[in-house]
Amino acid sequence: MIDMSTLNFEFFYKWVLDNLEINLNAYKEKQLQRRIGTVMKQAGAATLEEYARSISTDEIIKKQFLDYITINVTEFFRNKDLFENFELMVNTHLSVKFDALKIWSAACSIGAEPYSLAIIMEKNNIKLKQKILATDIDTTILERAGKGYFREGELKNVSLVDKETYFTKDDGYYTIHRSIRDKVQFKQHDLVQENYESGFHAIVCRNVTIYFKSEVKDEIYRKMADSLVKGGLLFTGATETIYQPDQYGLRKVASFIYEKIV
Ligand SMILES: C[S@@+](CC[C@H](N)C(=O)[O-])C[C@H]1O[C@@H](n2cnc3c(N)ncnc32)[C@H](O)[C@@H]1O
Repeated sequence: MIDMSTLNFEFFYKWVLDNLEINLNAYKEKQLQRRIGTVMKQAGAATLEEYARSISTDEIIKKQFLDYITINVTEFFRNKDLFENFELMVNTHLSVKFDALKIWSAACSIGAEPYSLAIIMEKNNIKLKQKILATDIDTTILERAGKGYFREGELKNVSLVDKETYFTKDDGYYTIHRSIRDKVQFKQHDLVQENYESGFHAIVCRNVTIYFKSEVKDEIYRKMADSLVKGGLLFTGATETIYQPDQYGLRKVASFIYEKIV
């Protein structure tokens, strides 16, 4: 049993920043430290110094660490009812206001979210200004996202007709069709440490801000609001209510959907 109070997290956070370029100081402390404790135990390390050495010499331990702290759980049309609301807003609001849309799926994991957006655009004949930008901090999952294959469970909200229209089933995996894959561009991006592109008509950022400290979350929403054009929409996760959206120049227009108003 590891005594968490003896672990040198200060050293480890600095080591991770210097060597893996991830700023762990941005994440909620207790939750993160619990996760680090579990994953270092799995790797057989007794101290964080020892664990850092293992991460730098063993690719499998490094991948295990990155996977465990980044939490990649996702699925197509996550919270189906909220996605239906978003689709409605795309049709009644965005496509009425704008000729072509620039869309960003931030913290996209293995791609289920940006591909869900691409399916919505395809089905509703929405013109895109450019490919949907899909970003994540984790390069390993982005590589997988680009290949576009998924397990059955990740498609539980996809209708039978859509499964047949947009996927090919092979060896138990569903691969997204090229016509949808080609609408998405994957790119590594760190929401905490990097600047954001601008001119977006929609930013979909779901189930990632829950892991950040409140001041970091605040900065992320501020930067996202700045990246939206007036009338653009920010779509958050089902537990990610933005309190006082007006402080960012946003207003709530549907459940977990906010419009940029200034
Ligand atoms: C739980 S998944 C959410 C996936 C998808 N948005 C959804 O709602 O289904 C969280 C994702 O956030 C990514 N992530 C964690 N920290 C990040 C950061 N600082 N910048 C960008 N992405 C980050 C993780 O790699 C992971 O893929």
